Amino acid sequence: TTAATAMALTVTGASFAAAACDDGEIVVKFSHVTNTDKHPKGIAASLLEKRVNEEMDGKMCMEVFPNSTLYNDNKVLEAMLQGDVQLAAPSLSKFEKFTKQFRLFDLPFMFKDIAAVDAFQASDNGQAMLDSMQRRGLQGLGYWHNGMKQMSANVPLLDPSDANGLKFRVQSSDVLVAQMEAMGGSPQKMAFSEVYGALQQGVVDGQENTWSNIYGKKFFEVQDGVTETNHGILDYLVVTSVDWLDSLPEDVRTQFITIFQEVTHTRNQEAEAVNLAARQSIVDAGGTIRELTPEQRAAWVEAMKPVWEKFTDDVGQDNIDAAQAINA
Ligand code: LMR
Repeated sequence: TTAATAMALTVTGASFAAAACDDGEIVVKFSHVTNTDKHPKGIAASLLEKRVNEEMDGKMCMEVFPNSTLYNDNKVLEAMLQGDVQLAAPSLSKFEKFTKQFRLFDLPFMFKDIAAVDAFQASDNGQAMLDSMQRRGLQGLGYWHNGMKQMSANVPLLDPSDANGLKFRVQSSDVLVAQMEAMGGSPQKMAFSEVYGALQQGVVDGQENTWSNIYGKKFFEVQDGVTETNHGILDYLVVTSVDWLDSLPEDVRTQFITIFQEVTHTRNQEAEAVNLAARQSIVDAGGTIRELTPEQRAAWVEAMKPVWEKFTDDVGQDNIDAAQAINA
């Protein structure tokens, strides 16, 4: 299969994409939920697809299904265990049914920036987490960055008390539920693909996400504004099934993993720039972005920090200590 054919068929949708693979090639379906362009995950997934299809032609064939066209994140891991999809990259917030360790990444103000996240993930604690779901049949291959989360609503958010009584969409994470409750908000777990409609129709008042997601799915168009809180991180675990990985011939597995690691390294370095470009695109499109004074920011930290205590047992004090040592 040539990369051009694979790409042309991918855009036509799920039903035709299978035709892009030749007989005898190991088919890798990669399902994700975001845009392909101007998005850290979308770009990385497309690059992985291109390189696998060029360099492993005849052996392996990858088809990326972006924008929730194949599965939502709440279905994709089950589908993976059933062999219907081989690769996914849900955010670290979406693994609660499989492990509670990743709750660390959702704790508000745990990491000061994406460089600190990167350093933690590269540490022994971070690398051990890749194997934390093996018993459940899932193998983490590596982390892909998105970036820091911002907060938006249908009213200006400057003091944490501005969130009082507002309904917020959160990813399917109890930590994020607790975080919104700590601000006096009513959190509601919801699939990513439903957020725009829910904001537009007033089912929820606000949400939190990265610049690339807020821009890519146009959330800013149906919000009063976005507040640059940088209060948490949104990163991904690229995950596959233990059984599928074991089933690969060793040379194929090695080549695939090598390409994956190169793509990961290249694209993770660009994730922050992709988010800053998305932030600028929001400004250019007339969206409102509000910055916090140091005093306002301190009030957000104060309001959210109590959430840590609730989840220390799930996350492990050693992991919190390791993350904080990196932040220092
Ligand atoms: C979300 O659900 O908001 C994000 O996890 C979507 C994504 O994959 O970035």
